[in-house]
Amino acid sequence: MNCIIKKESEIEKMRISGKLAAQVLEMIEAYIQPNISTEELNDICHDFIKQNNAIPACLGYHGFPKSVCISVNDVVCHGIPNKNQILKIGDIVNIDVTVIKNNYYADTSKMFFVGKTNTLSKRLCKVAQESLYASLNIIKPGIPLYKIGEIIENYVENNGFSVVKEYCGHGIGASFHEEPHILHYKNNNKILLEKGMIFTIEPMVNAGKSEVKCMKDGWTVKTKDHSLSAQYEHTILVTNNGCDILTWQKHEKILPSFIN
Ligand code: MF3
Ligand code: CO
Ligand code: CO
Repeated sequence: MNCIIKKESEIEKMRISGKLAAQVLEMIEAYIQPNISTEELNDICHDFIKQNNAIPACLGYHGFPKSVCISVNDVVCHGIPNKNQILKIGDIVNIDVTVIKNNYYADTSKMFFVGKTNTLSKRLCKVAQESLYASLNIIKPGIPLYKIGEIIENYVENNGFSVVKEYCGHGIGASFHEEPHILHYKNNNKILLEKGMIFTIEPMVNAGKSEVKCMKDGWTVKTKDHSLSAQYEHTILVTNNGCDILTWQKHEKILPSFIN
């Protein structure tokens, strides 16, 4: 197991990258409106990242053609922004932003609502976000990695939804995807968390069944049963007695029940 423990100098750089990735999500919120295309949203994120002396990590990553992933409704992840994909009232939209600043990566995503959305959509997004928060709440040195997946899967299933198994969180630092893999479901990984580890947690939660399928474009992943899907992602640092959320957004609130 080669779980990388970051040095203080690296952690400082990751804090800067994390803050920028969070700022992209804060900035783009105002543009999430009916009639905007996902390509326009991509271009606004791209320009903002470049203006901040950073690189959009997704652009060209294994050939991915755009700067951020935008996944609408039944798209689980890796949606490709497109000028012909126009947002409409009621859509739920994930924007997944990864930046490289001073050679260090940060990776974060959240859900946005286009206008008024229905009860199921809101509940799905809330449960996905809360499953992430519930897992953050238990993170500290000495906790075995499998606890993260156990908490997320239990939380999601107790709320009547399902967790996608094909994609997981990951270590992150001077590269995009590092060890360890962070599974969002029950598993047997007994690695103990240590101070200085940095990784993402990014549960994908489906309203229906957990199965997914990848489209012919080689990227877009949808739910097999066409049910809605929601995802939230943070880059986190394990600290002495808990964790720091490196991609925390200014207006983000954690409900009191999820604070340790
Ligand atoms: N940001 C995604 C993650 O959370 C990875 C996207 S890879 C891309 O790990 F190529 F699709 F952009
Ligand atoms: Co990630
Ligand atoms: Co991501």
